Amino acid sequence: MKFLGQIRTALMLLVFIGCGPDNGEIGNYRYRTDMHEQPSFRNHEHPLTPVKNTVPVNGILEAIRDSASAARLVNPVKPTQANRDSGRFLYQTYCSPCHGIGGKGDGLVAAKFQVPPDLTTPKYRLAPDGYIYYVIRNGRLIMPAYYEAIRSHERWLIVNHLRVLQRQE
Ligand code: HEC
Repeated sequence: MKFLGQIRTALMLLVFIGCGPDNGEIGNYRYRTDMHEQPSFRNHEHPLTPVKNTVPVNGILEAIRDSASAARLVNPVKPTQANRDSGRFLYQTYCSPCHGIGGKGDGLVAAKFQVPPDLTTPKYRLAPDGYIYYVIRNGRLIMPAYYEAIRSHERWLIVNHLRVLQRQE
C-alpha cells in the first residue's frame, strides 16, 4: 500500500509540473484536447475583423484574468425550474463522479483519484458565484479545467445547482 501511495504522489507531482501557469494561478490542467490543436478557426475566432466600434450581438465575452476578477462576475442565470433541471443534469454529468451527487466529495471516481473538498461547507457556501465559475472554467490543482467541455452559460447553471445542494444541509 505504501508503494501505491508513492506512485500516486509521483503521478500527482508530474501533473503539477504539467500545469500551465499561463494565468498566473495553479490549475488549468488540460486533459481533454478534443482536436483543439489544429489550424481551423477556434471558438469565437472569426476570419473577418469586426467593423470598428461594433460588438457581437451576444455581447463581448467577459475577460477573466484571475480568480479575483472572476469573483466579481454577475451570475446572469435566473433560478427558473427549467434552469434548475439543466443545472442538476450538468452537475450530475460533469461534477458528481468526483464531488458526489450531494457535493460531499464522495463520488465514485474520487475514491480512486483524489478526494475533493466537501462543497457544502461554509467556505464554499460563502464563496462568490464567480469564484465557483472560475474553478469550473480553469480547474484547480489536479481538478481538470472544463473550459472546453462546459460553456459559459452551463457553468452558471452548475453554480446554481451547487447553491441548491448547499441549501439542503
Ligand atoms: C476528476 C475529478 C473532479 C471533477 C470531475 C470535478 N472536480 Fe472539482 N475538484 C476536484 C479536486 C481533486 C479538487 C480539490 C483541488 C484542490 O486540491 O484544490 C476539486 C475542487 C473543487 C472546488 C474547490 C476549489 C477551491 O477553491 O478549494 C470546487 C468549487 C469544485 N471543485 C467544483 C467542481 C465542479 C462544479 C465540477 C463540475 C463541473 C467539478 N468540480 C468537477 C476534482 C474534480
